[in-house]
Amino acid sequence: MSVGPRLGVAYYPEHWPRARWERDADLMAAAGLEVVRIAEFSWARLEPSQGRFELDWLDDAIGVLAGRGLEVILGTPTAAPPIWLVESHPEILPIHPGGRRHGFGHRRHYCPNQPAFHAAADAIVRALGERYGSDARIVAWQIDNELGGRCVCERCVACFQGWLRERYGSIANLNESWGTVFWSQTYGAWSQIEAPDVTPASQPDGFRPQAPHPSLALDYRRFMSDSYVAFLRRQVGALRSVVGPGQEITHNLMGFKFPEIDYHALATEIDVVSWDNYPVLDPTARWSSPALAADAMRGLKRAPVWVLEQQVGPIGWEMVRTPRRGQLRLLTYQAIAHGAELVGYFRWRTARFGTEQHWYGILDPHGEPGGRYDVVKELAAELRDARAVLAGATVAPDAAIVHDYDSRFALQAQPTNPSLGYEETIQRHYEGLARLGLGIDVVSPTADLSPYRLVVAPNLYVVDEGVAERLRVFVEQGGTLVLAPRAGVKDRCNVVPEHPPPAWLAELAGVEVVDFASSLTGSTTRFTGVDGRPDGVFEGWWEQIEPRGAVATAVYEDGDFAETPAIAAHAVGAGRAVYVAGAGDVPTLVALYRSLAAEAGLEPFDLPEGVELVPLRRADGVRLSVLLNHADGERCVELPEAEAVTLPRYGVTVLEPVPSTVEAQ
Ligand code: GAL
Ligand code: ZN
Repeated sequence: MSVGPRLGVAYYPEHWPRARWERDADLMAAAGLEVVRIAEFSWARLEPSQGRFELDWLDDAIGVLAGRGLEVILGTPTAAPPIWLVESHPEILPIHPGGRRHGFGHRRHYCPNQPAFHAAADAIVRALGERYGSDARIVAWQIDNELGGRCVCERCVACFQGWLRERYGSIANLNESWGTVFWSQTYGAWSQIEAPDVTPASQPDGFRPQAPHPSLALDYRRFMSDSYVAFLRRQVGALRSVVGPGQEITHNLMGFKFPEIDYHALATEIDVVSWDNYPVLDPTARWSSPALAADAMRGLKRAPVWVLEQQVGPIGWEMVRTPRRGQLRLLTYQAIAHGAELVGYFRWRTARFGTEQHWYGILDPHGEPGGRYDVVKELAAELRDARAVLAGATVAPDAAIVHDYDSRFALQAQPTNPSLGYEETIQRHYEGLARLGLGIDVVSPTADLSPYRLVVAPNLYVVDEGVAERLRVFVEQGGTLVLAPRAGVKDRCNVVPEHPPPAWLAELAGVEVVDFASSLTGSTTRFTGVDGRPDGVFEGWWEQIEPRGAVATAVYEDGDFAETPAIAAHAVGAGRAVYVAGAGDVPTLVALYRSLAAEAGLEPFDLPEGVELVPLRRADGVRLSVLLNHADGERCVELPEAEAVTLPRYGVTVLEPVPSTVEAQ
């Protein structure tokens, strides 16, 4: 695929009469769209009965699109197994935790571990691969659609037992590693191990009678994640043997919020990370939510991504939410600024039937071009002009946030305190950095941290020596590392180590946690910065720490831990580790990161409320700033040594270069 930013669209030719296809393709091309994704739910049309493949209609549709110069991304249709398969193999239907069977009549009604499902998926993927693997009209493949779901069927439990045997070798080792002596949960054979309840613990009190052993709960989540990754790998393997080098293989992930699959593992299986972006789904409507999602998706491969589904209008299944006028353009720019070289809108034309009648496309159900079509067309032209400026530009790697799936899965089983919720914690720290206009990568704990001056590892609940060592090297070489509460509380088996937290990280942090306060009703405590450093507030959870080499940079004002350190910094080698002993709110974290970023040699900006600055670095070294006004009103942005820029509501500006000789465009 050529260098973006480019626009595309998801299209379902099978939903519309053949006689309409030419007009659709003409309108797409006239709007300046360049890429079309098709077929990811069309299994029943492609294989109406077992082994009878009917691909001619697909061929026809590809021909119509390619005839207008549109490039095609072809989906494998495994997210929607047809009724003949369900009827002949009802065992493929997944069983949700709690025992409910996910029946036919929706989608994703398959268990990723069922042999009959694998055989059927292999057959349709092979048929498509053989037909289109060397077809130049197809530029990429999307495997399945938004993988996910947690099945506890008998087959999954049997596979889980095999997965545990691989991991632990002997049942004695499993008993020892998990600590199954607790409540007489000791196992005598693999076959005795059942699936735990994997629904999240209820908040805030959470005494579920079925609260499973935490080690079992963590391993089942890892196993389900591995099951989906293995299913994806299976399809990728089938395609690799038949597709040409010009066709890339991708999958559409669900951004940062999706908590079930280890996307770091998944991303290693595909050529390009794609994701689906529906900003209006965040009930708090924070601009930092899609920004975090985008940075987390780009961080998976630290490479440009494709958005294969970008919200284009009103959305909802049962209920409907609408974006505001102007947000279509704004949010497209946001996705591009954060690393999308392709933004494909979902969908071309609003469905007349089915669950998604309320999920609006570029066209309304009646099919005549209207307001959204015009906006997309203007945007496509604008983006073509912007290519020269934006080509090769990527988010400047000022800071990184460490995103760890083991910690995330372990906290799903034992959330501990609402203030420690994994997604919310990452979001707050992300926002603390993003409001300062810093470039942020969201990366795995094993990523190379050398490009960054500042690395934030909030809620690194599950840790091991390897991760601790990598962080130590980062700090020794001059980096600033920020750790937040509940670091190093568990080992990889979700068992508490025989050292005070942050255990493996204690030497690096130069502190030991000796006590904590947990309030489930949102109580707060205040702290005062030392030597002019910022004051702040912790909410819900804060800890008493004892310095073991670190120096207090803030102290509690009152309460049980009054006058003891609330934040402590430890100089190690050329850098330092900073332990933040409580769950900071966003203003607290903005103030903290303003001071830490400046001390680390970064340039934090003062931005008006609602304005996002995404710093980009081009291959030629030029630093650009994309300014996005998410506020519902005009904003004036004053950057150092630059003329003020006024942005209308939902306005966007690209400044080049930045900041010293800035010129508004
Ligand atoms: C996505 C999905 C699409 C469509 C869209 C709107 O999650 O990939 O197929 O369903 O949501 O509901
Ligand atoms: Zn299953």
